[in-house]
Amino acid sequence: MQDFLLNTWYMVAWPHEISTNLLSRKLLGKAVLLTRDGDGKPVVMRDRCPHRFARLSMGERKAESIVCKYHGLEFNFLGQCVNNPYSDRIPSGATVARHPAVEKDGIVWAWFGDPEQADENLIPDFSAADAPPGGSYITGYTPLKANYEYGTDNLLDLSHIEFLHTGTFAGNGVIFGGEHSVKQDGDRLMSNWWMPNARCPAGLDQILQLETVDHWLDMRWNAPANMHLQIGATPPGQPREQGATFEQVHCLTPADVDETHYFWSTNSQYPQPEEYAETFRELVRAAFEIEDKPMIEAAYENIGDDFWSEKPVSLGIDAGGARARRIIEVMKRKEAEVVS
Ligand code: FES
Ligand SMILES: [Fe+2]
Repeated sequence: MQDFLLNTWYMVAWPHEISTNLLSRKLLGKAVLLTRDGDGKPVVMRDRCPHRFARLSMGERKAESIVCKYHGLEFNFLGQCVNNPYSDRIPSGATVARHPAVEKDGIVWAWFGDPEQADENLIPDFSAADAPPGGSYITGYTPLKANYEYGTDNLLDLSHIEFLHTGTFAGNGVIFGGEHSVKQDGDRLMSNWWMPNARCPAGLDQILQLETVDHWLDMRWNAPANMHLQIGATPPGQPREQGATFEQVHCLTPADVDETHYFWSTNSQYPQPEEYAETFRELVRAAFEIEDKPMIEAAYENIGDDFWSEKPVSLGIDAGGARARRIIEVMKRKEAEVVS
């Protein structure tokens, strides 16, 4: 079966990562060029000149085009060759694949499949996780040496915070006092934890000024690996609206079969006290980079064969990641049927 779903939206960058410069990023096994056109709109195209396959990202950027650094063919941002320095004639086949791209909710999305099917309405809603006016907002990027579905396993099974995040968000039995559910709604999954009378999680304790709260972790998954996490806490017994939340992006995009771009962010409608902001930023970064990343990478290295043939033990709490794999398998099979 094909390695990746194609007819779907992938997060390819944070908006601040791309400018009029030429950024090359490996996505779905191929070098891809990320830049902005003259109107500032994101441009996502194959980072490969059709002549002798030089990287266009090594070329010269002009206002609305790129000149290949190798032999000088010039391409506009639709991927059309607009100048051949050796002739008035544009050679046939001198085009570069341009992929539909959209900037929405503080995320740059791209579609690598059939451009005709690239419907922006299919982009999952991350509006709650965008930078809130006057609030706090942290974005991060962590490369993982692992297949993206192993990152999904980590994020859809947050029981691991009890053991793995003891140096940052420290479990202290919070998870074991809670209830977990996995629900499927079409191609979407919800993997949620509800933990009444729990210790207030780091960060929200600064906002709520409470030690004990009703606490929830609501994780929504959309294929292939675009996840939104709401971390919430409210005074015990009170409605959720009386509490406070962090809204987080956790998007995993394959660089290749064995490598993944992990984009993450966290926001709060409440500005964080300046003296605490840096501590919190470091805490979040450490959780993903010092605790999650080495564990996911080492576990992935430990797999000799494909996931299912290794016969993974099931604990129930891990159902989200398993279901996500099944949904992706079905989607890939459907995609392959249409193509063949
Ligand atoms: S490789 Fe680009 S012009 Fe030759
Ligand atoms: Fe984690």
